Amino acid sequence: MIVCVCKRVSDREIARHARAGMSFDDIQFELGVATQCGQCEGCARDVVAQCSAGSPVASIQLAARIQESPAWNSPDVARP
Ligand code: FES
Repeated sequence: MIVCVCKRVSDREIARHARAGMSFDDIQFELGVATQCGQCEGCARDVVAQCSAGSPVASIQLAARIQESPAWNSPDVARP
């Protein structure tokens, strides 16, 4: 699912980069996540942290938190 609405960056993309050993700052520079409104920064950082920890239970909890995030629930966002 999309974590950063402004840059259309998904949790999978962030996770893939995190598993490749990139830090949040590296991923932010590479993908542009959390570089516009900033609403997604907390969730994006959580994805990086969870993937670094490699915990499957944490990933389930993370998915729920992403759906509750302000960026995901923004009324300005057109959903497919
Ligand atoms: S910068 Fe990521 S949702 Fe706006």
